[in-house]
Amino acid sequence: MDSIHIQGGVSLQGKVPIQGSKNAALPILAASLLTKETSCIRNCPRIADVYRMVSLLKNLGCKVSWEDGGIRVSPVHVCCGEMRGEAITGMRSSLCLLGAMLSRCGEVVMEYPGGCVIGERPIDLHLVALEKMGVVFSEENERLRAASPEGIHGAEIIFPMVSVGATENVLLAAVLAEGDTVIRGAAKEPEVTALCHYLQSCGAVIEGVGTGELRITGRSGKVLEGADFTVPADRIVAGTYLFGCIATGGNILLEGAPFDQMEAVLRVAEQMGSSCDVTREGIYVQSPKRPKLPPSLRTAPYPGFPTDMQSMALTAMTTGVGHCLIEETIFENRFRVVEPLVEMGADIEILDPARVLVKGVARLNGKAVEAMELRGGAALVLAGLMAEGQTQVSGVAYIDRGYENICRDLRELGARVVSV
Ligand code: UD1
Repeated sequence: MDSIHIQGGVSLQGKVPIQGSKNAALPILAASLLTKETSCIRNCPRIADVYRMVSLLKNLGCKVSWEDGGIRVSPVHVCCGEMRGEAITGMRSSLCLLGAMLSRCGEVVMEYPGGCVIGERPIDLHLVALEKMGVVFSEENERLRAASPEGIHGAEIIFPMVSVGATENVLLAAVLAEGDTVIRGAAKEPEVTALCHYLQSCGAVIEGVGTGELRITGRSGKVLEGADFTVPADRIVAGTYLFGCIATGGNILLEGAPFDQMEAVLRVAEQMGSSCDVTREGIYVQSPKRPKLPPSLRTAPYPGFPTDMQSMALTAMTTGVGHCLIEETIFENRFRVVEPLVEMGADIEILDPARVLVKGVARLNGKAVEAMELRGGAALVLAGLMAEGQTQVSGVAYIDRGYENICRDLRELGARVVSV
């Protein structure tokens, strides 16, 4: 299996363009199924999860090609069959095909979606909300069958907790439903907003975009139009390189980074002693040799500090000055990166499954470590940049799920990194 070899000790310097957002591109590609016309989805990242979504769309009968700086999807003929295989079971985002296929075909049979092992990741919120909209679920040979014998109808959906995926699934089911839908407790994440903007550009009627209350006017009996849409830059990838800069005392420009979506992250960067200047080109970050640790850091739904950035922040803190209490409130298994970091010399105390105490040490030492999930894997690459000597990160397939080419990007910033 591939691994990434890093010779540590270099401060990141220079500029790096930020790829399109994975978590925005995937539901937008699924949403293209609601139209019968061609959409061009520009700025899609060339990553494993997007390739999986493309292959799922092709299996469903869509014509899909990479061109004009984006993906053209023509969902003229869609086979309303069964969805199975590794692309479904290996990727959490395949779940948004549930809402999309229900809208398009009225029924769907699919294997249970997988994804990174960062927690239990139940799907109850999706099921309960869609049931309220007239969908009937059953299990068939360990597959999920969803049907809407009387059609999908609008409903008042009240989410007891914020779920990005469940909000997206309800949106996808609601835009072509009979009657109106209100989603209270909707996720406000920028990726949900991007999905709303794509659907609106296809003719869907959605109010309250970017707020916790979305109002959708169902357009039953109508079809949506195709659209030309550009996926926003990936705030998590931008944040990864931002923490790489903080971790190595660097000086970099994150070209095209979506600064308006990164307020909580930029606040933490500034608490850690970095200056983050927003320019027309992107975010210009200058970091001190060793970061200061803020007393605490807590993940939260948007606009709070993203759970997807927690492993990178934790890693950058390991060689800072002071102590930081990190609390993970979204996924219960996001501290898997602690063990390899401790092997590299970090001082991190696990207080309970949701909280760790990081105590800054003078340095990390290079080691052979293994990525066990996407963001934790990227964090280990950052640890390699910080460490003395060589670090080898295996399990690169996880990192490839979300980064077009993390080695190329880091090399552009002067790091000594190769994929072997
Ligand atoms: C999405 C992102 C992921 C990000 C997460 C939170 C994609 C492809 N992935 O994941 O990178 O970390 O949002 O910002 O966009 N939950 C339930 N029942 C459900 C659904 C969720 O209890 O039916 C819980 C989850 O276990 C978790 C929390 O709700 O504790 C948030 O999960 P959710 O927002 O749904 O995450 P995803 O959409 O899977």
